[in-house]
Amino acid sequence: MRPFEALKYTVRYARTRHLAAIVRSGAEGARDMTELRCQRGAQIARIAVSVGDVLGLGPRELRDLRRMALLHDIGKLGVSNLILDKPGKLTDEEWTQMRRHPERTVRILERVSAFQYLAATAGAHHERLDGRGYHLGLRDEHLSRDARILAVADACEALPADRAHRKAMEPEQVRAIMRGDAGKAFCHDALGALELGRVGPMIATPVLAAAPRAAR
Ligand SMILES: [Fe+2]
Repeated sequence: MRPFEALKYTVRYARTRHLAAIVRSGAEGARDMTELRCQRGAQIARIAVSVGDVLGLGPRELRDLRRMALLHDIGKLGVSNLILDKPGKLTDEEWTQMRRHPERTVRILERVSAFQYLAATAGAHHERLDGRGYHLGLRDEHLSRDARILAVADACEALPADRAHRKAMEPEQVRAIMRGDAGKAFCHDALGALELGRVGPMIATPVLAAAPRAAR
């Protein structure tokens, strides 16, 4: 299924009552229907839900968190696969294109009534507490609990895995980076919950370590 067809599919079925299935299909479409990218979104959702569970979120909050995690990268529909799958380093212009995907996520989700309530948080997954993230440069006080959880889950999945432009990081390196960024990129509470959660050991175990050729 081509990306645009996947998006049309998502929007068409957004009016039905089967929202969980819709979110899954949207996430799959957003990831260009490649098995690996679908696995990656599902993995981020599992990590996010585990973190939310440790933080005491209720069933509805966990459901929303799962939906946001599955859809957070849907804005990559607007980024060329030549950039997403480019081996080696991206140019400055390519990084500029890549960094627009959270904003596109917001725009896409805001256009689907069933997804509007997810849009802002899903689009904040690359923001940092210190304001040096993207696409808005939001700071600590403007980042919701769920946006903080998504940021931790996204990094936890990404760092131990190969990407087109870099090799997978070793578990010790992942742990050092994430702990070193506590309070700067990552929320202390979310990071602590990640390490306490049932997927906490993932931080010490490469997730999808053999994953080839896909950018974060
Ligand atoms: Fe992203």
